[in-house]
Amino acid sequence: MGAQPTNQRIDIVRLWDTLQDLARIGATSKGGVRRLALTDIDRSGRDRFRALCQKAGLAVRVDAIGNMFARREGRDPTRPPVLFGSHLDTQPSGGKFDGALGVLAGLEVMRTLNELGIVTETPLELVNWTDEEGSRFGYSLLGSGVWAGVYPLEQIQALTDLEGITVGAALEAIGYAGKAAAKAFPADAYFELHIEQGPILEAEGHQIGIVTGAQAQIWYDAVALGQDSHAGTTPPSARRDALVAAARVIALVNRIMRDHGEDGRGTVGQLVVLPNSRNVIPGEVRFSVEFRHPDTAEVLRIAESFPPAAVAAAAAECGVKLELTELFRYAAQPFDPACMALVEEAAARCGYSARKIVSGAGHDAVYVARHIPTAMIFTPCKDGLSHNEAESIDPDQAEAGCQVLFEAVLARANRVA
Ligand code: GLV
Ligand code: MN
Ligand code: MN
Repeated sequence: MGAQPTNQRIDIVRLWDTLQDLARIGATSKGGVRRLALTDIDRSGRDRFRALCQKAGLAVRVDAIGNMFARREGRDPTRPPVLFGSHLDTQPSGGKFDGALGVLAGLEVMRTLNELGIVTETPLELVNWTDEEGSRFGYSLLGSGVWAGVYPLEQIQALTDLEGITVGAALEAIGYAGKAAAKAFPADAYFELHIEQGPILEAEGHQIGIVTGAQAQIWYDAVALGQDSHAGTTPPSARRDALVAAARVIALVNRIMRDHGEDGRGTVGQLVVLPNSRNVIPGEVRFSVEFRHPDTAEVLRIAESFPPAAVAAAAAECGVKLELTELFRYAAQPFDPACMALVEEAAARCGYSARKIVSGAGHDAVYVARHIPTAMIFTPCKDGLSHNEAESIDPDQAEAGCQVLFEAVLARANRVA
């Protein structure tokens, strides 16, 4: 593991046990986790997290969008806190570490400070952001987006899932529509530890990624409306097949992505086919579209090459009406050089091999960075696989990430104001 000049070590056995314990909440038969945002399973995960925080002496508050903040007081309570955390919600067939690593490593930082009797200069707040994943209500980064003022609270509360349940109702139902205002408060900095979710660190044998920023994204909702009709009796000339129209759009998304080389990303990940009966021509298809690229200008170019009118024209050739709605877009977000330097120094002090890296995934850190100095730490994951039940990391990798988080947070919280 290399030189370790500090005897202030996080406890990997405790962290690993806590990770495995949380992963039982929503565990799937294939070894993954299904803990969709604002479901009863999410509530159980949140309740467990809250209990662990309280046991560690942290004061937990919840804001109106369900973000949870667990505070450890500093020597000077008037100084803005250093924040760190991630998210506890998962994809429908997610893994044990996407999000959970950052939150529970944050808890381990707090526990280690308690054990060592360290009082930091600034207060510290560990955050569990609401619905980072975006797989239930259409928008990702819900909690951090409202906190950062990117989205009005009312707009997000009104979003619905596929069953028509609103974010507001779901928050009430699980008891996490908190009393605190859902908006940014003065804070000194934000650090987020996360698995890389890609193959680079593992392939190059690095233990730590010093994340320089996250790539630009644009997300859409699409609805294709044709006509349900009998599969056996409707001749080709009379068909208005919404799935055939959607397939054309999917092929277009794939082509646009490939036109932008190895850095381009274009995905249709959600498709709802109605009435979804094998002998009915689908009359309605609802689907998602997203594009990403590290260069904001490229995402803007992609958006230009995917105009709603042209997409609708492709569908019209199948006798289908297609509506494309842009949900959100954000530019590539660079992280703060001073916070990144703390991560780099921490990795070097611990003797961990590290490299700079751009995040392919979206993270709450993207929106938080609009308000306060922010940095992210990546650890490798097996075969770069994530958003998959087989997502996996080694305890050594979790230990390195958590130790770097500990050192970076401590350095920032004790810096001379
Ligand atoms: C979230 O994991 C995303 O990158 O969309
Ligand atoms: Mn994540
Ligand atoms: Mn994710």
